[in-house]
Amino acid sequence: MNATLHIIGVGPGDPDLLTRKALRTLEECPVIATPKGSQDGSSTALSIVKQALPLNGKEIIELYFPMKKIHLDSAPAEEVQEAWEKAALQILRFMAEGKDVVFPTLGDPAIYSTGYYLYETILSLQPETRVKFIPGISAMSSCSAATSIPICLGDDKLAVIPATFSGEQLRQTLESFDTIVLMKVHRVLDRIIALLSELNLLEKAVLVEKAGMKEENIRTDLSSITEQVHYFSTIIVRKRSGWKR
Ligand SMILES: C[S@@+](CC[C@H](N)C(=O)[O-])C[C@H]1O[C@@H](n2cnc3c(N)ncnc32)[C@H](O)[C@@H]1O
Repeated sequence: MNATLHIIGVGPGDPDLLTRKALRTLEECPVIATPKGSQDGSSTALSIVKQALPLNGKEIIELYFPMKKIHLDSAPAEEVQEAWEKAALQILRFMAEGKDVVFPTLGDPAIYSTGYYLYETILSLQPETRVKFIPGISAMSSCSAATSIPICLGDDKLAVIPATFSGEQLRQTLESFDTIVLMKVHRVLDRIIALLSELNLLEKAVLVEKAGMKEENIRTDLSSITEQVHYFSTIIVRKRSGWKR
């Protein structure tokens, strides 16, 4: 089997942020396999791809990856494992016909992405499978650009953390690092705002919703947020000086 699976980052939403290499790979691969988080939902990665190039003549398969917390120290839930295997087998079927497959993921595949779960599952089923990665522009890079806030400079220590995990872990991270990027904040914003306030960090925090998109929204006064923010929201807490005027 000579086919290759390309796991590629498509950036955080603005189709202009796809790399030329990602675009070329999407143009060349006959099959696009895209992740989606609910059975009847749609794929965000695919919607970004659709804005960047015409997909006429491509075979498009949407693969369901349940949105569940993954703790790397324990096995994922059975439902999650089954979904990964089902997705991997679908991709391997196309590759067995000699077709290259591209798997686009939001942002960069190395950051909280299904891409690496798929990669490991495919290799566990078929260790000789050819897989290549193409990096993408991460959401935090896009949030940094939108706000002109550097992520780390000089001797800064950086932490990137999904805000959905335990409050204690979050507190320790906020206390120990210079810049903290909080991802997946949309469902736990109240809790995060309370914690930032308790640690006197509200002044140092900025929330960016839909960075790089038409609807981009930058919020520097987090305590005034009363509405539900979008899933595409990230908070940068930069404790050291140099950015907030
Ligand atoms: C599953 S993670 C994917 C991260 C992605 N692989 C990356 O490299 O940034 C989803 C989280 O990324 C962040 N995100 C993705 N797109 C974003 C955007 N356009 N603006 C702000 N945050 C975004 C949000 O925190 C969201 O909850």
